[in-house]
This record gives sequence, C-alpha cells and structure tokens, in this order.
Amino acid sequence: MRVVVSIGGSVLAPDLDPDRVAAYAETIERIAADGCEVGIVVGGGGVAREYIETARDLGANEVELDQLGIGTTRLNARLLIAALDGRANLSPATGYDEAAAALRRGEVSVMGGVTPGQTTDAVAAAFAESVDADLLVYATSANGVYDADPNADPDATQFGSMSPAELVDVVLPMSRDAGASAPVDLLAAKLIDRAGIRSIVLDGTDPGAVVDAALRGDHTGTDVVPTASDEPTYWTGGGDA
Ligand code: UTP
Repeated sequence: MRVVVSIGGSVLAPDLDPDRVAAYAETIERIAADGCEVGIVVGGGGVAREYIETARDLGANEVELDQLGIGTTRLNARLLIAALDGRANLSPATGYDEAAAALRRGEVSVMGGVTPGQTTDAVAAAFAESVDADLLVYATSANGVYDADPNADPDATQFGSMSPAELVDVVLPMSRDAGASAPVDLLAAKLIDRAGIRSIVLDGTDPGAVVDAALRGDHTGTDVVPTASDEPTYWTGGGDA
C-alpha cells in the first residue's frame, strides 16, 4: 500500500520537542516496516505563523509571506528527516516529481510546501494524486471534520464518514469566514474530490493514532470515502495493493 501522511507543524513540533519528532519518526518507520511506501508532507505550524506575522508587520506582500511559510515547512521537514536517520530523502523534495522519485528509490519521501497561494494540505493531496496513493492521512490538531468550527461552536458535530463532495461543501463556507479554521483547506478538498482519494482526517497529537489509521483503518476521526470506493485491500488482509 502507498500512503501519504500530512503532518501539521503544530502536531509535529509544537514546541520543538525532540521526543515528539522522534515519536513521529518511529510512527513512520512502523508503517514502512509493515510494507507500505510512505510519503510525508510537513506543515509549518506556530513557527510559520510567527515568521509570517513579523514579516507582515515589516510590509511583506502575500507571496513573500507564503515563501516564508514554505521555508518553515521545509525546516520542519528537515527535523523529521534528521529523526528518520537515513531512511528518508536527504533534503525535503521541492516538487512532486522529486518526491515521487524518492519513493521509487525506496526512501520515505518527505516534503514541505511547494508554491505560494496554498497550504501543505493541498500539497499532500497533490502528492497523493501524483503517486496514485491508496490512502491520504491528515494528522491535524482537530479530531476530524466537523460541521462547524469545534473551537468556536460547542454544538459542532463530527462527521464519522463523508464523501469528498461533502468535504468540499463543508470547507467552502469555512474558507470564506476570516478566522474560521477549516480541517483541510479548500484546494485540498477539491483535489481529493477530483481524484477520488480515500482520506482520513484525525487528531495527530498522538503519533500512534496514525499507525492504527494507516495500517488498519482504525481511528476516531473522519473517513473521506469516494463513491463506490472499497476499503484499501491492505486493511482487509488482501495483501499489498
Ligand atoms: P501550512 O501548511 O503549515 O499552513 O503552511 P497552515 O494550514 O496555516 O498551518 P497549520 O495546519 O495551521 O499548522 C504554512 C504556510 O506556508 C505557506 C502558506 O503561507 C501557509 O500558511 N505555504 C505552504 C505556501 O504558500 N505554499 C505551500 O505549498 C505550503
């Protein structure tokens, strides 16, 4: 099975704790040791936000801010590469071909951001589509997809399962409201819908949750299931897909 995992910067390195990055490296090694090809996309988290705020105060334009954000995602990706101790590409892939080539070489393929105007949510969806991944896992700071922002609305209800088209419908209004935080960004949702990518959105605070989700489909987040898509055969003992 080929799986792409998007790890938010705020769950990988909220406070640059080396134990946490090491725990994520171990998680990835467990998935790879089970026979999966693993692609990883790392986000920028709080470090990105701090750099962006400072640069905004200095008068940087949006593209310049995005470039700073991309730089921080690659810094975080380098932390994970260091923890993976030779099992990953030497430096974060800067494009999808480069990321796919690392997978072909049998490496864990790690990348950060790619181009201004999006976030690593969209990078992960494009990477998953480009390598025809069987599964895309978003390890975020929210436990799945809700019908409203759970941090702002106590009545927000979690989706256990939804279609990619429903994901687009849920994310669309959130992307219009300044300050509302969507579980994945709109471009990512559209790419998942267009390509029909089987996805899971879960709370990545515990890295072990990603192992259970990737290898067995066990999690407490949200499944995004394309119409007429079966579960990965890997989960049902059908062998490597
Ligand atoms: P993130 O993917 O971490 O953004 O990229 P985010 O969704 O704001 O972070 P989380 O999920 O809350 O942790 C950080 C920033 O890097 C730029 C954007 O400015 C983004 O906000 N970026 C990232 C790009 O411009 N292009 C990319 O491909 C990736």
